[in-house]
Amino acid sequence: MGGKDTCMKVTFEKATELLQAGQLVAIPTETVYGLAACYEQAEAVARIFALKGRPTHNPLILHIASVEQLYPFLSQIPDMLPLLTALWPAPLTLVLPVHKEKVPFAVRAGLSTQAFRLPAHPVTRALLAKTGPLVAPSANLSTRPSSTTADHVEEDFGELLPVLDAGPCSEGVESTILIYQEGKWYLGRQGAMAQEPLEALLGYPLTSPTGQQIRCPGQQLKHYAPKATLYLVKQPNHVPVVVGFSDRDYGVTRLFSLGSSQNPEQAAYRLYDQLRALDRASIAEAWVDIDFPQTGLWRTILERLNKAGGG
Ligand code: TXA
Ligand code: MG
Repeated sequence: MGGKDTCMKVTFEKATELLQAGQLVAIPTETVYGLAACYEQAEAVARIFALKGRPTHNPLILHIASVEQLYPFLSQIPDMLPLLTALWPAPLTLVLPVHKEKVPFAVRAGLSTQAFRLPAHPVTRALLAKTGPLVAPSANLSTRPSSTTADHVEEDFGELLPVLDAGPCSEGVESTILIYQEGKWYLGRQGAMAQEPLEALLGYPLTSPTGQQIRCPGQQLKHYAPKATLYLVKQPNHVPVVVGFSDRDYGVTRLFSLGSSQNPEQAAYRLYDQLRALDRASIAEAWVDIDFPQTGLWRTILERLNKAGGG
């Protein structure tokens, strides 16, 4: 391979062609980059797990281009499903009971449910229209922060993995996951869509699933983590390294900025890049300012920081 041309950024046409031929391609979405494959390509699906170092009991999200594509998979139509799919395209994933023979075992990790998402990113949608449904976990090594740029993908997987680069992801954190079980919706994962409007729509508070069956297998404790040890405190002062806000004075020179303390969208957008920046700067310890509201998108940010700090 020539000196200049080592980065494997591919065109839209090339990405389509590779996916159809059973190859993996890192693709943009509005939340984070995904490590994508056509869902019926068994070898490609197996490579996703191998490449990420992901346990095979952790199922994948199936990305679809339209609500019409969803219904043939389903073994029942849950209460209020039309209300929730009316929110699509959005950073919202729905875990639903499926006809098992319609989704490969490896994709759903043997469960009788499948996670579905209809992404909002125009490039993802155009791609899905060409390739059909794509499985795509976040494009990061297992336990690492997700990737929100093509460079992040390359940090984790090297320059041989094809990446369809569409610039930084606008949301910056993963989709919110709702799980349907026995007549009720549960919050499988906090995410880019705040939980309060979803609760207003459903008419009841969202709780975490408790039964063994319906836990999000991927929500293990350590997750989204940089190499640095993180200490979560309110407005840290006179410590060597702070992950915090540009409108606060921490009495330090080394600030990894999440932007303004008044702007949760900006903080989510910058979050994984700043956690990854700690590693790029070989930082061993950092103090994270968690003095912000515990509602809306801030709640998702706090959850990610808690996990990144090892719980
Ligand atoms: O925003 C996103 O959702 C991104 C982009 C690429 O779409 N994808 C993503 O995928 O975050 P991943 O694989 O990193 O996270 C999916 C989560 C995992 O925690 C997994 O355990 C959970 O969804 N999950 C998948 N299928 C499930 C199922 N049938 N039941 C419960 N949890 C499930
Ligand atoms: Mg992930």
